[in-house]
Amino acid sequence: MNVALKRPLSAADLNFNPAQLPLERLVEHAREHWGVAGDFTPLEGERDQNHRVTTADGKSFVLKVSAAGESEGAVDFQIAALRHLERTSPELPVPRVIASKSGTDREWIAAADGTRHMLRLLTWLPGVPVSQGAPLTVNALRNVAAFQARLARGLRGLFHPHARHFVAWDLQRALLLDPGVQAWVADDAKALLTDFNARVRRDVLPRLPALRAQVVHCDGHADNLLRADPAAEEIAGVIDFGDMVHAPLVQDLAVTLASFARHGEMSLDNAVAQVEAWNAVLPLMDDELEILHDLTLLRLATALALYDFRIHATEEPAPWLTQERPDIVRALSRFLALDRTEVHERYRAACGRVGRAPANVDIGQLRERRGRALGPSYRLFYDRPVHLVRGEGVWLWDADGRRYLDCYNNVASVGHCHPHVVGALSRQAATLNTHTRYLHDNVVRYAERLAATFPADLSVCYFVCTGTEANDLAIRIARVVSGHEGVIVSDDSYHGNSNVVGAASTSTYPKSEQPEWLATVPPPNGYRGEYRYGTPDIGLKYAAKIDGAIAKLTERRQGAAAWLCDVIFDSNGTILPPAGYLEYTARAIRAAGGLFIADEVQSGFYRTGEQMWGFGYADLVPDIVTLGKPIGDGHPLGAVVTTPAIAAKFAEKYSYFNTFGGNPVSAAVGLAVLDVLEREGVQQNVIAAGKVLEAGLARLAAKYPLVADVRGKGLFWGLEIVRDHATRAPAVEEADRIMNLLRDDGFLLGRTGAFDNVIKIRPPLVFTPEHARMLLEGLDRALMRV
Ligand SMILES: Cc1ncc(COP(=O)(O)O)c(C=O)c1O
Repeated sequence: MNVALKRPLSAADLNFNPAQLPLERLVEHAREHWGVAGDFTPLEGERDQNHRVTTADGKSFVLKVSAAGESEGAVDFQIAALRHLERTSPELPVPRVIASKSGTDREWIAAADGTRHMLRLLTWLPGVPVSQGAPLTVNALRNVAAFQARLARGLRGLFHPHARHFVAWDLQRALLLDPGVQAWVADDAKALLTDFNARVRRDVLPRLPALRAQVVHCDGHADNLLRADPAAEEIAGVIDFGDMVHAPLVQDLAVTLASFARHGEMSLDNAVAQVEAWNAVLPLMDDELEILHDLTLLRLATALALYDFRIHATEEPAPWLTQERPDIVRALSRFLALDRTEVHERYRAACGRVGRAPANVDIGQLRERRGRALGPSYRLFYDRPVHLVRGEGVWLWDADGRRYLDCYNNVASVGHCHPHVVGALSRQAATLNTHTRYLHDNVVRYAERLAATFPADLSVCYFVCTGTEANDLAIRIARVVSGHEGVIVSDDSYHGNSNVVGAASTSTYPKSEQPEWLATVPPPNGYRGEYRYGTPDIGLKYAAKIDGAIAKLTERRQGAAAWLCDVIFDSNGTILPPAGYLEYTARAIRAAGGLFIADEVQSGFYRTGEQMWGFGYADLVPDIVTLGKPIGDGHPLGAVVTTPAIAAKFAEKYSYFNTFGGNPVSAAVGLAVLDVLEREGVQQNVIAAGKVLEAGLARLAAKYPLVADVRGKGLFWGLEIVRDHATRAPAVEEADRIMNLLRDDGFLLGRTGAFDNVIKIRPPLVFTPEHARMLLEGLDRALMRV
């Protein structure tokens, strides 16, 4: 057979004349070379003369005699592949090569006319072809694809000089377009394929050389795959390695999809199930997913062309060619009629790539279904809610492919889907995920590295899954350590949603329902509070409010267990604690026997630029720090960091376990976020972008009377929107309109504060000065129009 065909295909290229050696010669050779004797039953074979040999002790083999002139390289290649699989994937049910008595994997036999033929002995794989028996269920089809993927995985790393041999079915050869084949293609097929052939030439073939390639089986069809019994859904083995070739890996999946499309079981749903099953074993790459549908069509089209060629160009064509042809035409017509974009999107979705929402997802319907399924408590942003499907860095895309600059989401701290974080997560998820009752290096390394970012005393970490859990545990620790119950928070605070922390989130429910153990202090709001900007010692004046709160708790016999302070007062409309505020309040709570808990869920991880932690600007070390949101770049992770003394006191009474907190995957994510923070100049970026925002927002405040106060630092800013500078009446509707105008202009922002009139800017930390300038222009446009 030709290695490269430099002339049109001729009938001789596809003609195989299996040897016809007399049985007694085969019996004799089997005994002589392999010491095998028994019953010989002839088997079908396109290229080889095959016999099943069953020995007296019940063992079964296949004796294969190659056709005259068969290339030694081609046979060696098959032997090498089976040997390779035996080493790499001993669990895969494929035939094993039996070495002869002389220690070789193939012997020679001469026919009466003097032609020499290669002789091999393989083990017999029990089972029936999946083409026989019950129609294939979707489960069985999945198993087929998963099996082929395992086979492809097993073949990885195989090198053989004959791996690029000529295989008529090899899609890289594009025999479909060969003039020698085209000459015989019937008119109906020509009509069906004119446009497609042009696309193959233009779009498909040029892309093949760049795809990931290896030796692939390329023959996963229903006659080669076996099941244990006619009703079984599992795949029990695969035979026939004659089409194996070095080719794009995805070609193997395309062959499988095309083969099963021909067998009548295939709908797009089934194909999607097969793609999903394959991908679960051997993840597909983007360029492979992009070309998969075309390759599947190409395989079907090649089948049709080669059938026609063999039907018309060869003498005495096998009857099954004509019998099977209508199935191919039907499958090809059906697959050609599919919407290519939809197929592509569905394949991508099956492999976990979110893409454009399928055209049939109606936003209105989705909202309605959401309302029913999630109930009325869930809220959406915006008059026209945004349906997001993809994120990358500071960008988010909606289902219509529209791009938004994310100016709001601090959770995606180092950027949406940061590849280093996603990589660490997927690698660990594919390796092991358990919990902290077993030793694991990740959680220990993570705790050490996280603690190293804090002042030395704060060196013990507890891991949780949310900011709420972190605050809940922090309050619990504070209560145990202090022996008191009372907790102090700011008015209109937000710290989370559990029973205790929800009660400590005074912005979320009526003041009259605050529990006895809770006391509040006004936030140090220099724009709208009791003491305004310019008041001397404003920090201390606000801080002194804590004395009243402590006194109240003492009066109620609660005692003061903790002052839980969001050190950037996010829910109060973004307020940086004025000078002396944190120091004074920390001293006061400690003097009352309580603990100072810094809630760094909002302010942590360089949010404000110069300091990694919000408390870092003050001269104090908190007793406990709670962390959440940005810590995991989107992964549910949180932490409580405290001192060894406090941890020891807590442990006297309580053990601690959190099923998911600190698991190996979460710890890998946490470590990856720290890597990015250390390696990618995130802090410098926050400082630089923060300066651009600071100057630009000041300009906007000077230009638009609606913007009455601009507060913040780094990448956390609040713009107080008011109707009237004298009354400071909150311009709630205008703030809402600004947010919606910006949304329509491609910018996502939020609102906060007791009146919801503070525009909140809090983007991922990788928001650059350039992004800041884009946002400033967008804000300008919105303020002009509101
Ligand atoms: C300051 C602060 N603490 C705690 C939380 C609660 O975090 P989570 O939603 O992860 O429970 C939030 C959430 O918005 C927060 O802003």
